[in-house]
Amino acid sequence: MSDAAWWKTAVVYQVYIRSFADGNGDGIGDITGLTARLPYLAELGIDAVWINPWYPSPMADAGYDVADFRNIEPSYGTLEQADAFIAAAHERNIRVILDIVPNHTSDRHRWFQAALRDEPGARERYLFRPGRGPGGQLPPNDWQSVFGGPAWSRVEGDPDNLWYLHLFAPAQPDLNWEHPEVRSEFEGVLAFWFDKGVDGFRIDVAHGLVKEAGLPDGGVLTAGAQHNATHPAWDQDGVHEIYRGWRSVANRYAPERVFIAEAWVPSNERLARYLRPDELHTAFQFDFLRAPWRASTLRTVIDDAMAGAASVGAPPTWVLSNHDVPRTVTRYSRSQPAGLSESEWERSRWDEEVADHDLGRRRARACALLQFALPGTAYVYQGEELGLEEVEDLPAEARQDPTWVQSGFTDVGRDGCRVPLPWINGPVPYGFSPAGATADPWLPQPPHWGEHSVQAQDGDAASFLHLYRDALTLRRELWETDAEVSWLDTDAGVLAFTRGDAQCWVNTGDAAVPLPPGVSVVLASVPGVTDTLPTDAAVWVRG
Ligand code: GLC
Ligand code: CA
Repeated sequence: MSDAAWWKTAVVYQVYIRSFADGNGDGIGDITGLTARLPYLAELGIDAVWINPWYPSPMADAGYDVADFRNIEPSYGTLEQADAFIAAAHERNIRVILDIVPNHTSDRHRWFQAALRDEPGARERYLFRPGRGPGGQLPPNDWQSVFGGPAWSRVEGDPDNLWYLHLFAPAQPDLNWEHPEVRSEFEGVLAFWFDKGVDGFRIDVAHGLVKEAGLPDGGVLTAGAQHNATHPAWDQDGVHEIYRGWRSVANRYAPERVFIAEAWVPSNERLARYLRPDELHTAFQFDFLRAPWRASTLRTVIDDAMAGAASVGAPPTWVLSNHDVPRTVTRYSRSQPAGLSESEWERSRWDEEVADHDLGRRRARACALLQFALPGTAYVYQGEELGLEEVEDLPAEARQDPTWVQSGFTDVGRDGCRVPLPWINGPVPYGFSPAGATADPWLPQPPHWGEHSVQAQDGDAASFLHLYRDALTLRRELWETDAEVSWLDTDAGVLAFTRGDAQCWVNTGDAAVPLPPGVSVVLASVPGVTDTLPTDAAVWVRG
């Protein structure tokens, strides 16, 4: 496959910069720390990094409240450091994908500040509306924030009883994408970073930008489910015209710049609409990260994802976790009932069932081999390669996700998957910050994470980290092909397919199963596999 098509088969590593590596000892990850760890990423064998928002931000939502789209958050570094990082990554043949947040700005963005001061025309860039009821006491419609509570906040002391829309936190006012200045501003932001050599963008809440005209009521939906359902706030047809414009910006560059959409839409058919040839290149396929560890469900999810992407000629994408959902190990550490509703999975902090992390790790290793054997692109969320679990017992006072407050302290939110990485097998902060650091990590790390650190796993051939390194090396040889998935007949609980001249076998069932006679094992998620595949394990074989 040609170099220009790198994004069709890429393994993209998600850097949650705040928690990746702290270079200056203030307890917050930064560009210096990230740059110093480039050799680690190169050795892992990834093709690209996607960096969560690194722009100036008051951090009401961990950087997804952007105050200036053309600069760097001071606690992360400087624009010069960003330039140097991009160059250093490219030297190692690692592409750089940034995160663009077009649905909303920070309330400290100059545009929203001007709107609050009611400068002429400034409010038109956002969605201000008069309240309902006597004195405008009630929000303009019934929309709920994804983080909980109403999606509207009142402008204090406003004579017209105005409210403004925020589908997320009150500090994240939604932009009005009907406004031509909003459109041109974002095309300018894309060009600003493309000119710096950035290879692409992950588009935050790509399905949210355009709202149904008139902002009608949408009916009651729970907060977590709202952005996955058919609703006047989400997945409106008008959004596609925006992406056609963005695609023409990307097409001006060589090599071509690429987009990946974060769009939580109700079906693969709706998702495919974002991937039409003049729109976005790829989109996250999220069904995998919501599926229980069951062969039959996984097979359906894989088939649907491949069919959806193929209908528009796009590569499928495979995501096991990210900074918004519980870590894979923990998701697989408890029983795996079929047919859990979306909100049950999204909340998925099953208080009543103790997590068996050894079991979760065993399944997560197997699932990684499944993910990397499939056609298309694969995403690795930092720490997945170390087999880190969700930190479910963070003290309440440490929690920073706005979901915690906005849900009235009923949903613990997403901090548990954002805990800073352990690099060294020593005491806290496990090398996340350098020796002599002046502050603790911004979220506390669990007492046993030294044993899951990079250093502890580096020298251990049976470690999670080695499995990832081996898988990413062998993936190039075995699976980086145009060959399609062809399912093999198996017992219930087992998933097996051929692609090209290799096979992938996954056992989610209760009993070991025989592998076909004569195959040779190339890589296994557990030691000692030759002719039978134990339960909760996966293997790559050649026939
Ligand atoms: C996306 C991000 C999430 C953020 C939200 C609002 O879903 O992944 O972290 O809170 O958008 O920007
Ligand atoms: Ca720092």
